[in-house]
Amino acid sequence: MRTPLVAGNWKMNKTVREALELVGGLNTQLAGIEGVDVVICPPFTALADVGRALAGSALELGAQDLHWESRGAYTGEISAPMLWDLGCTYVIVGHSERRRGPGESDEDVQRKVAASLANELIPILCVGESLEEREAGRTERIVQTQARVGTLNVEPDQAASLVVAYEPVWAIGTGQPATGAEANRIAGLLRQWLHEWFGDRAGQIRILYGGSVTPETFGEFAGQPEIDGALVGGASLDAAAFAAIVQAFAGRVG
Ligand code: 13P
Repeated sequence: MRTPLVAGNWKMNKTVREALELVGGLNTQLAGIEGVDVVICPPFTALADVGRALAGSALELGAQDLHWESRGAYTGEISAPMLWDLGCTYVIVGHSERRRGPGESDEDVQRKVAASLANELIPILCVGESLEEREAGRTERIVQTQARVGTLNVEPDQAASLVVAYEPVWAIGTGQPATGAEANRIAGLLRQWLHEWFGDRAGQIRILYGGSVTPETFGEFAGQPEIDGALVGGASLDAAAFAAIVQAFAGRVG
């Protein structure tokens, strides 16, 4: 049985004051919510304050990235122990905006996944093809490679705590999500591959869909058997919209 998970990736949005306003709204709207894990991923600058504001609620704190080293001469970087210290329990790894902007490679992502797990952080490993790759018929190959290289250093007994988010690049921030059927198909393939690599433990790995999930579109995904939740960008910046998406997945234990 897998508990559904909905994570809000705030990306580069919200000052501390704005973040606290949003968390206030989320704490109210999601008070007493059960049957779903909820993770809030604010920017680094708001992690400490948001973490304090979430204390006592069921909502968990996540970061949007990390460095694989624990400490050292890495100007501008943030390590897993630093995130753990602030109360983070999750961290997004390998988001396409980091693969394409700062140019993170699959090997970088692999090191980040391993560093997360070694420091008691659950990595939300993002995979997904670009429009060009989809049109060239390379979707399955790209997703499989990103997932395989990203998890290559994961020990079998760590695998169950992994989270994988299928986020097709062409669906992110475009208002054009994948269809539920297509997202479910890719999630099913991911599960099959994870099973080949990690055996029965793959049955516990949660697979999320991300890309233009909103209160208008979540119905496509909340009903799909292979999809265990959502990674939400833009709609997570609005308490009512995010709460509606969380509620759609609550109680859907499958
Ligand atoms: P949007 O929900 O804004 O499309 O972003 C998805 C995403 O990138 C979450 O990580």
